[in-house]
Amino acid sequence: MPDTADNIIELRNITKRFPGIVANDDVSLSVRKGEIFALLGENGAGKSTLMSMLFGMYEPDAGEIWLRGQQVRIASPAEAVALDIGMVHQHFKLVSNYTVTENIILGVEPTRRLGPVRYVDRKGGAERVRQLCERYDLELDPEALIEDLGVSSQQRVEILKMLYREAEILIFDEPTAMLTPQETHSLLETIRRLRDDGKTIILITHKLEEIKQVAERCAVLNRGRLIDVFEVASTSTALMAEKMVGHQIDFAIAKDAPQFGEVVLDVQGLCVRGANKVEMVRNVSFCVHAGEVFAVAGVAGNGQIELADAIAGMLPASGGEIRFKGQDATRANVRQRSVDGMAYIPEDRHGVGLVLDFQLSENLGAKRYFRPPFARGPLLQRDEFRRYANELIERFDIRVSAGPGTPTRSMSGGNQQKAIIAREIDLGGRLVVFVQPTRGLDIGATLAIRNRIIAERDAGKAVLLVSIELDEVLACADTIGVLYNGQMTKIAPAASLSRNEVGEYMMGVKR
Ligand SMILES: Nc1ncnc2c1ncn2[C@@H]1O[C@H](COP(=O)(O)OP(=O)(O)OP(=O)(O)O)[C@@H](O)[C@H]1O
Ligand SMILES: [Mg+2]
Repeated sequence: MPDTADNIIELRNITKRFPGIVANDDVSLSVRKGEIFALLGENGAGKSTLMSMLFGMYEPDAGEIWLRGQQVRIASPAEAVALDIGMVHQHFKLVSNYTVTENIILGVEPTRRLGPVRYVDRKGGAERVRQLCERYDLELDPEALIEDLGVSSQQRVEILKMLYREAEILIFDEPTAMLTPQETHSLLETIRRLRDDGKTIILITHKLEEIKQVAERCAVLNRGRLIDVFEVASTSTALMAEKMVGHQIDFAIAKDAPQFGEVVLDVQGLCVRGANKVEMVRNVSFCVHAGEVFAVAGVAGNGQIELADAIAGMLPASGGEIRFKGQDATRANVRQRSVDGMAYIPEDRHGVGLVLDFQLSENLGAKRYFRPPFARGPLLQRDEFRRYANELIERFDIRVSAGPGTPTRSMSGGNQQKAIIAREIDLGGRLVVFVQPTRGLDIGATLAIRNRIIAERDAGKAVLLVSIELDEVLACADTIGVLYNGQMTKIAPAASLSRNEVGEYMMGVKR
């Protein structure tokens, strides 16, 4: 085999089964040393599973893993690290009350000897961390506590953790899903720099543009099977999408002119303090009508999450008023608002969206269990939960391995997100608040959700959409409100604003 010499990784006929599903089905692929290799596929296609085996979190049921020309068995992440493999998971695994340096050196602490005593050389560790930051142009304070850092800084810690262990093969599982466009740009720069330094990179992402920007080759998985491996330079994003879903995709969102009804949500002079007690929303006023999609545009961190949380009742208002269906709801709690018909799809789907230890059916029924037909007297109706879950699985195309009884934790990230959206929309309320609804979703699911947003509006609901993705705002909005530095600096019909103008308001250039 002449051209396999420069393959650093070879997966041969890998199969992995979970109860009820073949997550990887006879997958064979190889990655060359020093390339950026992308992995593309719908939610639940088996991308994370395949990479988890390379990182020693699962072992394949069949097939072989070859590294640098030798067959290996990788029985644990520790063994993966010993083979110079590192992985940045979508949900970070850092200790929050430790510093950056402590997290990085955890388990591989450098030691020094002082007479008979061995002690941890924190200074030496911090110095190496500093050198690595410099070498790869990663901005980070080695002494900062993890809990004080934002998502992108925490991600840099995960990257440094791999580099500190001298990983040569770096796996990134949807690293940009949580990042702003600016942060994404700088992460992709870092990834390029790592590649130039001789590292081999595997990048899982749903964003075709990112693949186009950095990857040399890309593999496509579909329902566990390897469909194709292609050269990125000679493949358009449209063709990539087609390879992924197996047919041509219509990216356009069809939208009729809106029919506004009565005011459903009326926000006046709202002020909200964030977790750090700083006022993040300052004197914001707007209203959302039945039949209207009101989209809040803004660069991440300008108060949109706090705004949405306050409307849903997760954060108290420090000033102003929230009126819902003509009633003052400023001080109503989350449950009251939900019962009154306010649906909320939060940004953090693990914190407030789903209980991972529950079955899918329990999560889908979670907001209905206290009313018939789910509860009759004191008894919960198991069959009713199951029937209802099956209905939502079907309607929202939630891909699960064991039907309503599937443990939520075992579901792929994107399918967990679809489950929250299904549950919240189906409550049949008057207002749906969507925060970053398509984060982590594949292209097909993203289009389906955007079409769903329009369908909800056409059914006469009021929709509040908060998204840092300008494409999403422009595709869905009837009205755009731009948040800049906690203030709504512009409210206008979407049709009256160009993409550029919205961008200028978002950056605070125009106000
Ligand atoms: N520990 C597990 N137990 C049972 N089933 C699992 C487990 N891990 C994954 N699965 C199932 O295997 C399939 C592949 O999941 P995987 O997480 O690899 O998908 P993915 O391609 O990473 O999707 P996404 O883009 O949504 O992250 C899914 O059907 C998932 O529900
Ligand atoms: Mg995944």
